[in-house]
Amino acid sequence: MDVFEAVTSRRAVRGFTDRPVPKEVLERVLSTAAWAPSGSNLQPWHVYLLTGGPLAALKKCAGERLAAGDPWDEPEYEQYPPELKSPYRERRSAFGEQRYGALGIPREDVEARQRAASGNWECFGAPAALFCYIDRDLGPAQWSDLGMYLQTVMLLLRAEGLHSCTQMAWAKYHRSVAEILSPPDELILFCGMSIGFEDAAVDHVRTGRAPLGETVTFVDGD
Ligand SMILES: Cc1cc2nc3c(=O)[nH]c(=O)nc-3n(C[C@H](O)[C@H](O)[C@H](O)COP(=O)(O)O)c2cc1C
Repeated sequence: MDVFEAVTSRRAVRGFTDRPVPKEVLERVLSTAAWAPSGSNLQPWHVYLLTGGPLAALKKCAGERLAAGDPWDEPEYEQYPPELKSPYRERRSAFGEQRYGALGIPREDVEARQRAASGNWECFGAPAALFCYIDRDLGPAQWSDLGMYLQTVMLLLRAEGLHSCTQMAWAKYHRSVAEILSPPDELILFCGMSIGFEDAAVDHVRTGRAPLGETVTFVDGD
């Protein structure tokens, strides 16, 4: 698979089969992803890879908290500004329309939207999940390094025939994740990532992207 195909075939997959992901594949992907760039080569990612019993325990714990109506853990970082301005606000609501519209859920049916989002806590059925932490002393430039690292992981997963879904949702239950992983106190959970083989029977829509001219300016004198 070439890089263009890996990039364009990657998408947030929200339905996985229970087919296990071989450990040697995960090791190959993660040891190769370590070549992702980072400012001054800090490599600020701290990654935990969960499968089997520990992942099942985490899914169970999160599912129980959700069912009990337990409030989210206090946030350790702001996922979005409280007032998203244009054009981000419109893009976010277009995404919501696409994601829930594909499932036949209208905008006003908040409960059905929450039920669909609850798939996050089962990792959408995935048999493997990655959790990515960063040291709380590090700043925006190092957080951006995490993005480069995570995209590198996702593209390598495509090369192995696997799919993924990055999930900031897991930061809402960071205490439950920490109970299973026992990370050092100085780390903040940025996100989880479900990993596995796609369940082709699960409907999805391809998200769109803004036209190139909205996000890229060529400055070439022409
Ligand atoms: C940092 C990050 C966090 C995300 N968190 C979630 C999440 O919690 N749950 C979810 O279902 N999708 C999540 N997504 C997936 C995005 O919704 C998705 O990438 C975006 O809508 C574009 O769609 P695509 O990845 O299918 O191209 C996340 C993506 C990123 C990069």
